[in-house]
Amino acid sequence: MPDRIRTERLVLRAPCRADISAIATLADNRKIHAMTTLPYPYSQQDAEAFVETFARSEAEHAYAIALPDDELIGMVGLHLDPGADPEIGYWLGEPYWGRGYATEAVGALLDAARRTGHCTTLRAKARSENAASRAVLEKLDFRYVGETVSGCGSHKDVPVASYELTKSFGTP
Ligand SMILES: CC(C)(COP(=O)(O)OP(=O)(O)OC[C@H]1O[C@@H](n2cnc3c(N)ncnc32)[C@H](O)[C@@H]1OP(=O)(O)O)[C@@H](O)C(=O)NCCC(=O)NCCS
Repeated sequence: MPDRIRTERLVLRAPCRADISAIATLADNRKIHAMTTLPYPYSQQDAEAFVETFARSEAEHAYAIALPDDELIGMVGLHLDPGADPEIGYWLGEPYWGRGYATEAVGALLDAARRTGHCTTLRAKARSENAASRAVLEKLDFRYVGETVSGCGSHKDVPVASYELTKSFGTP
């Protein structure tokens, strides 16, 4: 995957220590927690652990989503589980919702994954009630494959919609 991905309005780049404060501020949001695995409250220490340990690891390949002046607005990434298809995840700070940024960032990550030629299928999950996230996935041609119930974490027993994207994958 490339180090940096540019889109019309955004830059996707590796998260770094300078992002910790902005991540801690934006991610400390009950509405984001309700739709993701991010904890609430979300502390400075959570942001530090994310940047220093998890963001770029065997299990995760995350990109900070930034405006052209490098203001951080959210995060998008691939969760990597050996033997399973990569799963895409994302969140934006609430002040930046509703402007098409998630669709632009996720779409760019899909294109980059496609260009590697190694990725035949991408998966994504969203809480069934998460209409905005489902709209993002559907605009990017993810196919709904069914509903399950989450089995762990703070959102146990919550209905979750699963999606997959296979179209055009594996052909660089
Ligand atoms: C989900 C999230 C990333 C969307 O970000 P965003 O930049 O606002 O998304 P976009 O503007 O690219 O697209 C959102 C789409 O959802 C639609 N939408 C928003 N709220 C909706 C609702 N309640 N019902 C139906 N559609 C809705 C918008 O109209 C838009 O579609 P359009 O472009 O066709 O009009 C953002 O709301 C977020 O971070 N939420 C909290 C964390 C989260 O849910 N992460 C995803 C976990 S699976």
